[in-house]
Amino acid sequence: MSEHDTSSETLGEPTRRDFLYLATGMAGVVGATAAAWPFIDQMRPDASTLALASIEVDVSSLQPGMSLTAKWRGKPVFIRNRTDKEVEEAKAVPLDELKDPAARNANLPADSEATDLDRSAGEGKENWIVMIGSCTHLGCVPLGQAGDFGGWFCPCHGSHYDTAGRIRKGPAPENLPVPTFTFVSDTVIKIG
Ligand code: FES
Repeated sequence: MSEHDTSSETLGEPTRRDFLYLATGMAGVVGATAAAWPFIDQMRPDASTLALASIEVDVSSLQPGMSLTAKWRGKPVFIRNRTDKEVEEAKAVPLDELKDPAARNANLPADSEATDLDRSAGEGKENWIVMIGSCTHLGCVPLGQAGDFGGWFCPCHGSHYDTAGRIRKGPAPENLPVPTFTFVSDTVIKIG
């Protein structure tokens, strides 16, 4: 081995090792930064998130028997102006026939029962029903004015909801949930 080769070995090794240390150090810094950003981002709701905390929906065009779907916090919300017949049908159902006896109404205490009144917008507004349009089985969006009970039907696996949005048949375990909402005027509903 020549003198030149020896010096090359001696000088080459530390240089390569230094580079590896440097590269490892850099990777650590990049990793820490990448992990920190999503965490900080989650703590700072942007303007669009705040704007969607509540929405107001004009329901003046909904005649009895009609419904609309609004979008709230990324989810569909069904609003239906039920006919007298639909309300009567829902009222006539004995509560002990219900698969889910709970009201699932965010405006009422958790132990409220799934009567038609407690599922609806309440006394004097029983024709109005507002619900999150997400099947309680696996989250598909049910179809309105459909199914064996004239309410909603989820075609994904065959869940039937009645005109009060209560689960009556199929694999879904719970009634469609009623979100927090209020009528801010005769024709405008505030959700959230
Ligand atoms: S997601 Fe609706 S029945 Fe399965």
